[in-house]
Amino acid sequence: MDHSCRGVTTMDLLDQPRKVFVNVLKSGNIVLLLLWHILHLVLSILYLLREIFRAFQSYLITNGYVKAYDDLNLDRVKYLGIVVDSDEARKTSNVIELLEWLSVIGVKKVCLYDREGVLKKSKDIFIERFGSAHLPSEDSKNPPLLSKKQMEFEFVSPIDGKEAVAKAANLLFKKYYADEDSEKPFFTETYLTKALKTLGHVESDPDLLLIYGLARCHLGFPAWRIRYTEMVHMGPLKHKKYGLILKVIHRFTKVKQNYAIYMDREAYEIGRPVIQKAGVEHKIDFIESHALHALPKNEGSFDYAFVDVGKINSINYHERITKLVKVNGIVVYDNTLWFGSVAQPEEMVLKEFKEGRVSIIEINKSLTADPRINISTVPVGDGITICRRLY
Ligand SMILES: *[C@@H]1O[C@H](CO)[C@@H](O)[C@H](O)[C@H]1NC(C)=O
Ligand SMILES: *[C@@H]1O[C@H](CO)[C@@H](O)[C@H](O)[C@H]1NC(C)=O
Repeated sequence: MDHSCRGVTTMDLLDQPRKVFVNVLKSGNIVLLLLWHILHLVLSILYLLREIFRAFQSYLITNGYVKAYDDLNLDRVKYLGIVVDSDEARKTSNVIELLEWLSVIGVKKVCLYDREGVLKKSKDIFIERFGSAHLPSEDSKNPPLLSKKQMEFEFVSPIDGKEAVAKAANLLFKKYYADEDSEKPFFTETYLTKALKTLGHVESDPDLLLIYGLARCHLGFPAWRIRYTEMVHMGPLKHKKYGLILKVIHRFTKVKQNYAIYMDREAYEIGRPVIQKAGVEHKIDFIESHALHALPKNEGSFDYAFVDVGKINSINYHERITKLVKVNGIVVYDNTLWFGSVAQPEEMVLKEFKEGRVSIIEINKSLTADPRINISTVPVGDGITICRRLY
C-alpha cells in the first residue's frame, strides 16, 4: 500500500505503453515484439505474486492469527471516507460487500464518493440496508443486535467539489461585490467556509480515506475536506480484502500522525484556538522541547514538515528533516526571503537583518546544492521555500 498521492490518471499510465506497442507492431521487429511480450509476462507474474501475498496476509488477519488486530481503537476513526473509481462503483454488490465489512468492523460514520456521482445516485440502496437515518425510531421489532449495523452516511459527488466552490464564490461576489456601496472585504478561507456552509456543503473532514481504484490520486474528492486526512490507496475494489482494511485501520490508529514541537507551550497556546476551531486538536501531539532533541525517529514516514526555527538554526535541521519525510514528501522552510534583505546589496541591509540574511543565504546554498531535493521559493508572506524529496 502506497500512501503517496501523485496526480497521475489512468489515461497517462496507459497511453505511453500503448504508443510504444503500436510503434513496435508497425516496425515488425520480431526481437522487439518478443521483448515486449516477455516484459509483459514478467510484470504479470510480479503482479500475481503481489496479489497472492496480499491474499495470504489478509487470510492471516481475517482468521485472527495476528493478535494485534483483535482490538481496534475505532475512536480515532470517527469518520471514514471511501473513494471508489466510478466504473467500479456501478457494481453495487461490491460496494455493499465493502459496507458489510465496515459495519462488522464497527465503523459508524462513512462518507462515500466517486467522480461521477454513481454512489450518490444509488444512495437509497445503501441507506436502506445499513443506514440509521431512515429507520423509524419507534420500530420496536428491531432486535438490539441490528443496531450494531446502523451507519450514518454522507454521499459526496462532483457537485460538492469544484461546482460547490464556484457557487460559493458566486454567493460571496453577490453579497459583497455586486453592490457598489457595500464594504469589500479581502476574502480569506473563513469566508469561503462560511459560504460553503450556507450552501450546505460542509461536514467534518474524514479521519481516514480509503481509495479504491487504479489511479494513485484522490479522484477529485473535494480538496478542502482532506486537509488533515490520511489517505491510503487500496487497489481496485474487485480485489478488496477484509484483512487489509483491518491492517490499514490498525496502522492508522497506532501511528502518531501529527507533531507540533516548540520550545514553550505559551506559543502553542496562541495557535490552539484556531486548531480547536478547525476541529483537529485531537490529531496533534504537542511536544514542549527544543525541536532538534525531540524530532521523531521514524525516518521516511512523514508526508510534510514545516520548518520555522529561526534563521540561524534552519541549516541544522535540513539533514534530519529531509530524512524524516517520505520520497515525494514536502519540506517547507519559512522566512526564506527575510524581508527582502537576501536580494539587497550587503551595505544596504538594515543592521537587525544582517545576521539572519547571511544564514538564509547559506541555507539557500545548501538547499540548491542538495541533489536529493527539488526546490521552489515562493514569494508569499516573508518567503517560503518548498522542497520535494526526490529519493
Ligand atoms: C538561491 O540559490 C539560487 C541558486 O544559487 C539562486 O539562483 C537564488 O537567487 C538564491 N535565492 C536566495 C533567496 O538566496
Ligand atoms: C528538479 O529540478 C531540476 C531543475 O531545477 C530539473 O531539471 C529536474 O527535472 C527536476 N527533477 C524532477 C524530478 O522534477
